[in-house]
Amino acid sequence: MSRLDFQIQAKAGRARAATFRTLHGVIETPLFMPVGTNATVKGLRVEDLKTVGSQILLANTYHLLLRPGAEVFERMGGIHRMMNWSGSVLTDSGGFQIFSLPHSRNMTEEGALFRSYVDGATILLTPEMSIGMQKAIGSDIMMALDQCIPSTADYKTAEEAMHLTHRWAKRSLEARGDSEQALFGIIQGALFRDLRRQSAETLSALEFDGFAIGGLAVGETKDEREEFTSFTTDLMPENRPRYLMGVGTPIDLLEAVNAGVDMFDCIIPSALAQQSVAYTSRGRMRLERSVYKFADEPVDPDCDCYTCAHYGKAYIHHLHKADEILGWQLLSIHNLRFYHRLMASMRRHILAGSFESLYKEQREILANPDT
Ligand code: GUN
Ligand code: ZN
Repeated sequence: MSRLDFQIQAKAGRARAATFRTLHGVIETPLFMPVGTNATVKGLRVEDLKTVGSQILLANTYHLLLRPGAEVFERMGGIHRMMNWSGSVLTDSGGFQIFSLPHSRNMTEEGALFRSYVDGATILLTPEMSIGMQKAIGSDIMMALDQCIPSTADYKTAEEAMHLTHRWAKRSLEARGDSEQALFGIIQGALFRDLRRQSAETLSALEFDGFAIGGLAVGETKDEREEFTSFTTDLMPENRPRYLMGVGTPIDLLEAVNAGVDMFDCIIPSALAQQSVAYTSRGRMRLERSVYKFADEPVDPDCDCYTCAHYGKAYIHHLHKADEILGWQLLSIHNLRFYHRLMASMRRHILAGSFESLYKEQREILANPDT
């Protein structure tokens, strides 16, 4: 029994167009989740997120546990009410943040021991504590606590991290109990095929509502990422959503959808906006370049976002030079709209039976050099 009622509507090779139902409504895949680490997608109001077409946001258990803490979410009635967001929310478990943030940490059977960057306190994040926090946050989809390691790790390190991840996955399911919130397991195994297979098989046998591929986009090449994505999707249950964590660029998303992935999150659209880089229907555009100083036309004439409807490149160029936050905000809107339109067009073409031609066309376009 799945809490999400995942339904595949059409397939094109391995690519799938599907729907599922969270506590906050029906979601259409393939989909992209903007990153809202601190219960905010940096600089954007929920009105902006609705307008660009976001269906579900990602928030981070690790950050929200340290600040503001579980009690605030409990007393304020959860993240949806606090954020004024009526769409869906997925919370990452903290496994990745503990791996990636620079401070002292220590893995034990019990959990991950680390020092808070907020007040220096020593905290032991266990699978039970992560699930407890995700319950307090009130996300629609929770993630099991995992041990993420660099994808270049040696076999023994990868094997031990994978087994620990499996034991934590079982404890996470226990801790979820009869909560209505969905829970995904995270497949690890670095760049070892037998470990990826073992991880996919072990987790697939458990009562998760969906499955994620973790431990990619952490040091491997693009070719390795693609190879291991399609190798792993082939081992994942057909009838559950598949989520590739922390990936990626538009071309990564195109390749991964083609390999059978349904869900993604990544900071790239917002992070590049901060550097005044825009994704367009012709390739990436670096708006800091002085060739745009007098450029009156929109960032992308084919885009239907608020930014492209109201502003020219020259204004964004100026805002960037003057270090004004509005430039970042306007480009975040544009880049997220680009990501959502890309996902929506993949979905449309899978449903219409024309995905292969879109795939071939977009592979060329998305590989264009920066302008
Ligand atoms: N985000 C990106 N990669 C990972 C991963 O391997 N684990 C978790 N929990 N989050 C991620
Ligand atoms: Zn736009």
